[in-house]
Parts: sequence; C-alpha cells; structure tokens
Amino acid sequence: MKKVPALLLLELFTVYHALGLSHEGSGAIMYPNSDNEVVHEETHYTPELDYKYPHWCRTLKLHNGHMTCSSPRGGNYRNSLGTRCALSCERGYKLLGQSSVQCMSSRRWSGTAYCRVVRCHVLSHIQHGAYSCSRSFLVHSRCDYSCFQGYQIEGDRYRVCQAGGSWSGAEPTCADHDPPKLKCPLSRVKVAEPGKLTATVSWERPTATDTADISMQILRNGPESGSEFSEGQYVIRYKVYDQARNMATCKFTVHVEVRRCPVLKAPLHGYLSCSSDGNNYGAVCEYHCDAGYERSGTSTRVCLFNRSWSDQAPECMLMQIKTDMRSAGALLDQFYEKRRLLIVSTPSATDQYYKLQNIMLQRAGCGLDLRHVTVIELIGIPPHEVGRIKEQFLDTEVIEGLRQALQITRSYFNMVLLDELGIDRERFINPTTSDELYNFIEEYLLTEEEQERLQLNKDLCD
Ligand SMILES: *[C@@H]1O[C@H](CO)[C@@H](O)[C@H](O)[C@H]1NC(C)=O
Repeated sequence: MKKVPALLLLELFTVYHALGLSHEGSGAIMYPNSDNEVVHEETHYTPELDYKYPHWCRTLKLHNGHMTCSSPRGGNYRNSLGTRCALSCERGYKLLGQSSVQCMSSRRWSGTAYCRVVRCHVLSHIQHGAYSCSRSFLVHSRCDYSCFQGYQIEGDRYRVCQAGGSWSGAEPTCADHDPPKLKCPLSRVKVAEPGKLTATVSWERPTATDTADISMQILRNGPESGSEFSEGQYVIRYKVYDQARNMATCKFTVHVEVRRCPVLKAPLHGYLSCSSDGNNYGAVCEYHCDAGYERSGTSTRVCLFNRSWSDQAPECMLMQIKTDMRSAGALLDQFYEKRRLLIVSTPSATDQYYKLQNIMLQRAGCGLDLRHVTVIELIGIPPHEVGRIKEQFLDTEVIEGLRQALQITRSYFNMVLLDELGIDRERFINPTTSDELYNFIEEYLLTEEEQERLQLNKDLCD
C-alpha cells in the first residue's frame, strides 16, 4: 500500500449571515468552527499521476449540501484523479462557488463552494397588529399576522419565506371597521317648574365605547344638560367618531310642558291679579272687589298640578254696613282690612269749617269710594249729638266709644283718617280739599294694585 500523503485540508464552510442581511457580501461573517481553509503542503512529495489511487484528492465535504461524483472507475473512486463532482445544496441553502469540481493532477479540487443559508428580509411591523414566525426569517418559516383588538386583518393572513428568499403574498393591513357604540339617555317629558314657564333639564352625558379606541370626543347638537328649556320639544343629538372615522350617533327628545289651568274670570264687581303667566301651574290669583263690595270666600287660588284651581271662586257682594252696633269696636270690625274711614267731627252743624268741608266731601264722594273710604260724621254735643254713616244713624254708645278710642274732641272741627287696619294715619283741623285727601290716600295708603285699579276706573267719577 502506498502511503497516503497528508492532504491539504480544505473545509467547505458555511457562512452565516447576520440576521436581516440577505444580499451577498455585506454584514458580518461568522464561522461556526475553526477548521476553515487550512493548508498543509508537503512540497517534497510529488507523486506520480495515478488514476487508480482512490484518495488522490482529499474527501470533499459540503455542509448542508450534496455532491454527485462520477469516476470512470466506479463508486469507490470518489476522490481519484479525474473524478468530477456536481455540487448542490439542501433546501434552504444556496450554493456559492463552483457547482462542479474535478480532482486535478495537483491533487486539488478545481474549485470551492459552500452552502449559505437562505433568508428572507425582515418583515416590517404593521400598524395595529403584529406577526409571529415559526422559524424566524429562514426559508419555510411561516409568519402569521394578527391584529390588535378592534381591528380586522385585510389581505394575507400569513406569509411564507420561499426557497428563493422572497416572501409569499403581500403585507396585510389591520383596519378598524367597527363603529363606536354610543348610548343616549331616555327621552323625557318635564313639566315646567311651579310658577315658571321653563324647566331645567339635566341628563347624564352619553358615553362611547369602541373596540379599538379608548377615548373619543363626543359632539353634541342641541342644548346642554342642565339648561333651562322653555315650552316645546327638543331633539338632542350626539355624535362620535373613532380614529378610523367610523361614526356613531344617537338622539333623544326633551319635551317641556307648561301645565295650565283654565283662565280664571274676574268676579262680578271685582278683579283679579295673578302671578307668573296667569294660569300656569303654580300661578297664584288674588281676588279683589271693587270699592263698596266685599269678598266672600277665599282671597287667593292656586293653579294646581292637576290643572285645576284650588278652592272655590269667591264673590264680590255689595258691602253691608250695620250701624245698629252696640260698641265702637263692633262697628270698626266691619271695616277691618276692607275700608278706610274718614271720621268728621264738628261741635255743630252750623260750624263754618264743617259746612265748607261738607260741600267738598259731597263732591268728593265718588273719589273717596274709589279709594275705599267711608265717611262717618259725628255732629253736635250731647244730648243732641248725632252720629251717622250716610243716612244711617249710630248708637250713642258707639259715638262715645269712637271719640274715646280715637280721641276725637267735640270742642272744634276736626277729622281723623284711619287706614284699613283702623290705625289713625292723619288728622285735620282745617277743611281739606278733595285733592289734598286723595293725594294723601294715594301716597300713603293705597296698595300698588289699588293704584292701578284706581287709574282704570278714575273716569267713572266724572
Ligand atoms: C286636583 O288636586 C286637588 C288637590 O290635590 C284635588 O282636591 C282636586 O280634586 C283635583 N282635581 C281634579 C280635577 O282631579
């Protein structure tokens, strides 16, 4: 046996490219082991050409590859001189170098080659989604795409790194087609508050939910919650968009109702003064009687929630003054809160002041009546003293009572003006014109309503 010479050791090696670099010649090259191209040459030994020697060239190795060798001498002569080998790589690897080599007389193979792993490029990230791959970006790796919650995938659900280093299909997208959800409050009917023509209506602002977006701006069309609404029907709309411009809307109605009672009629010989709008829920109407009439029954009525008025309507009855009272107090009680009194006192019916005053009062009669004033005359000195209201005479006890209670002297002409509560408001010791009396009463004694009523009826006295 011939001695086997030391062979130059040529290791075909595999180049690993760094992740993400696919084209040749760039990136870092990492060698998996240290038995790369190491050459031992024994120059002193020059063998004769021997076609029969089976180990003329060293044994070929191709990591991740195959070779098909043909030697004229048969299968055992794979490394013999003249043997030719076709090189190919396994799936997922690409051959770099010679695809066919021959064992040469120099005992070297005619070329080198190696199998480089084939990679696809790194897949880019997609918006609102992600992918995961079975074998990274290597050949045959399958990358499955998924979308984040609320997004639907459109396009290829997965891509496969193909043998040639390219991805199958195309990059999918994640789209949001789900509109947000918006829930409006319930429609409502609200009755205007008592004594008002409006209602304050509040509601919970709707909230929007979306499969993809967390916070969205909600737009309102119509009055705000907590606004004061006047009578009528209102539609309040809400609208919301998600980031993908999917829209949701909702609406509800607010109906404000003013409850009304039938319109009240003024009493015969009287009038009404009402608050608020006159006949809306909560309105209060006050009944008044014209001068000379007195009210029998309630003074005010309220418009109730059930659209009816409280109490019964009062009437204005002609005022009956009883003069056959036994005491001044009983007489005055009849006027309490109804009439004012002007008490005229004179020592004699022939008194000049009295005569003058009498003429003026007769002319002023209608005007005094309009101002709710009744005149009481106390004339003379006992035992010939007379007291009267118009043609009706008073008891002597009553006259005495009046004089004492109000300190009205018999010594000279004088007058006392009492208000509706019987309080002494003014005294006169000289005859007084009707204008002066009227002015005093209007300025100090009349209520605002009585003033208005007086303006309305003033010409009745002409
Ligand atoms: C309205 O309500 C009042 C008091 O609550 C009651 O007295 C009256 O009968 C009611 N009227 C009607 C028409 O229901």
